[in-house]
Amino acid sequence: MKRFLLFAAFLATLLFCGCEDSARPKLVMATNAEFPPYEYLVGEQIDGIDPAIVRLIAEKLDRDVKIDNMKFDSVIAAVQTGKADIAASGLTVTEDRKKQVLFTIPYIVAEQLIIVPENSPIKAKADLKGKRVGVQLGTTGDTYMTENIQQPERFDNGALAVSALISGKLDAVVIDNEPAKVYVQKHPGLIILSEPLTVEEYAFAFNKKDTELCAKFNAELQKLKESGELDEIIRSYKEGQQQEEEAGSGTFWGKIKHSFYLNFVKDKRYMYLIKGFLVTLEITVFAVLIGIVIGFLVAIVRSTADQTRNKSFLLKFLDSLCKIYLTVIRGTPVVVQLLIIYFVIFGAVDVSKVLVAIIAFGINSGAYVAEIFRAGIMSIDRGQMEAGRSLGLSYAQTMQSVIVPQAFKNVLPALGNELIVLLKETSVAGYIALQDLTKGGDIIRSQTYDAFMPLIAVALIYLSVVMLLTYLLGRLERSLKTNE
Ligand code: ARG
Repeated sequence: MKRFLLFAAFLATLLFCGCEDSARPKLVMATNAEFPPYEYLVGEQIDGIDPAIVRLIAEKLDRDVKIDNMKFDSVIAAVQTGKADIAASGLTVTEDRKKQVLFTIPYIVAEQLIIVPENSPIKAKADLKGKRVGVQLGTTGDTYMTENIQQPERFDNGALAVSALISGKLDAVVIDNEPAKVYVQKHPGLIILSEPLTVEEYAFAFNKKDTELCAKFNAELQKLKESGELDEIIRSYKEGQQQEEEAGSGTFWGKIKHSFYLNFVKDKRYMYLIKGFLVTLEITVFAVLIGIVIGFLVAIVRSTADQTRNKSFLLKFLDSLCKIYLTVIRGTPVVVQLLIIYFVIFGAVDVSKVLVAIIAFGINSGAYVAEIFRAGIMSIDRGQMEAGRSLGLSYAQTMQSVIVPQAFKNVLPALGNELIVLLKETSVAGYIALQDLTKGGDIIRSQTYDAFMPLIAVALIYLSVVMLLTYLLGRLERSLKTNE
């Protein structure tokens, strides 16, 4: 028990050490760092044209930049709800978006282009009709396809769409010109068609209320434009992307070794898995604790209500409350609950995502644990309660010292099962852009365009933890048996 508490304390420290404070006010930048050369991850750091510009201007406004990396389709919402101050994400100015956010002056002109395999029958935009076309969800490429051609296949980021194209699952990808160049340069078999689908302008975006901040930002941006500094930044990042990735040697083992190197060793990519694993562990441990507490309370209320003939008003009330909780939580998917807690309940406040995930998974797990506990309590013969009461113990005392300990032993396998389910279920945490284990694998995948190695590694890590848990639970069960 002591060791467990120590471990919990250790995880709690990890949870809170992310919040360093500084004297200067923060400028929170919402982005989707899967869009080279505008924004991309280098190890743990986010680099690219947008962060470079924002950092430079923030410096002039005497602010510290904090980057919040999320899915592209959340970037605008983050600024609207006040979760972030500025959206800097290769964001195209469109009429629809103008209704939602306040755009700065534009800083670059871009195009939506078509990427296809070298000998594709698709030669121009007219040929896209009826073909399998991939886009990044929520981008102007997505809008263009949807409004002018047909429903595209929507991916979380451009890299995933491009890897689907490479493996023959798509016929074309529609994406912005600079990322298109980066992807094509990394994949010799791909080409870009010359005819653009759209010509657009990128700008940064603020909350509609932040007119003053936006004006100051604009003034600095204008200066950067006039001095030529802006063009210099953009040029340097475009060139930075030109370096070639070394290829592995031709033999089977040579290729495997190279792929291993690329996916895990290069740029310390293994850190995505290690850090992600810690996050997964942290969420699971705390969610389990919350789940057990909630589950226990709900089970006591529910079974007491079941066993009482003349229920007091309070008991009836609590019982209905518990029933509603069970129905709602078990009736909706955990991802949806997670999204509601993050975007709706905590919509306007700045809370740590890990905390949100812990709360969401804890509340969710509580419902299942409650039913497990209730089943356990029900499984104890009624005679036990009667025996306890006739010994002069109160209802609560009998529960505490006779029923619950036996019930606990009976439900241990089911509880272990719930723990295993929960551990794996946290893999949807990526939906709120938390970098858990699964998301860590995804990030590697989007940098190396290799699906095999990162996915297998992630699967193996989950599997090992589950096997370890199963073993430990087995031992616990056996030791409880011998204690009987
Ligand atoms: N320019 C496009 C748009 O505004 C795509 C931007 C995607 N940006 C990103 N960071 N993923 O819709």
